[in-house]
Amino acid sequence: MVIKIAPSILSADFANLEDAVRAAEDAGADYIHVDVMDGHFVPNITVGPPVIASLRRVTELPLDVHLMIESPDRYLLDFAAAGATILTVHVETCPHLHRTAQLIRQLGASPGVTLNPATSLETVREILPYVDQVLVMTVNPGFGGQTYIPTMTDKIARLARMIVESGSGAEIEVDGGIDTHTAPEVVAAGARVLVAGSAIYNSIEGVREGIRALQLAVAAYA
Ligand code: DX5
Ligand code: ZN
Repeated sequence: MVIKIAPSILSADFANLEDAVRAAEDAGADYIHVDVMDGHFVPNITVGPPVIASLRRVTELPLDVHLMIESPDRYLLDFAAAGATILTVHVETCPHLHRTAQLIRQLGASPGVTLNPATSLETVREILPYVDQVLVMTVNPGFGGQTYIPTMTDKIARLARMIVESGSGAEIEVDGGIDTHTAPEVVAAGARVLVAGSAIYNSIEGVREGIRALQLAVAAYA
């Protein structure tokens, strides 16, 4: 079983994003996770399509773009044109989620859906056949460096069962508080893509060692 590592550049030095992305790629990262925040849906503001376009020029890795923004439909074209590989929208921001997922696919990107820790899994059940990825937020979105919410492990396991029942091929990604302690637990529950910001970019041994440590932590499941 392949477990993918998706370093979140939210915890990198924004003045040196090229270095941050190249270091992750050299160390064997599978995706680059980019957190887009609008200051409305979440209490923080980060980057938009121009930064995605710049990142697209310096890495071959898939760009896994996590949209923490209201009315994401308005910006999907811009993010797809900038080179986003995966576009993940929050179920809480999409009243017409099926339309949104279809639009993402029409734009040539891979659709993902995500839900906040307190949002029920029932909100994604009907969309499972139409998305490639379901991102389980394991902290409240907005900031890096928060603590994993322990009850999310059972949520991941229930989602894994729901995906099997639905016949969907969607992969489970997890985001928030993922480190060498929580990684084995989420993978055992069914997660296949691990987003990690502070565990990689704030690792005192460096990015390479941060990624290696996560890979090792889940090696038993590979
Ligand atoms: C939080 C973001 C995460 C964040 C994770 O809202 O979606 O991607 O970078 O950071 P860590 O891994 O430090 O919890
Ligand atoms: Zn994220």
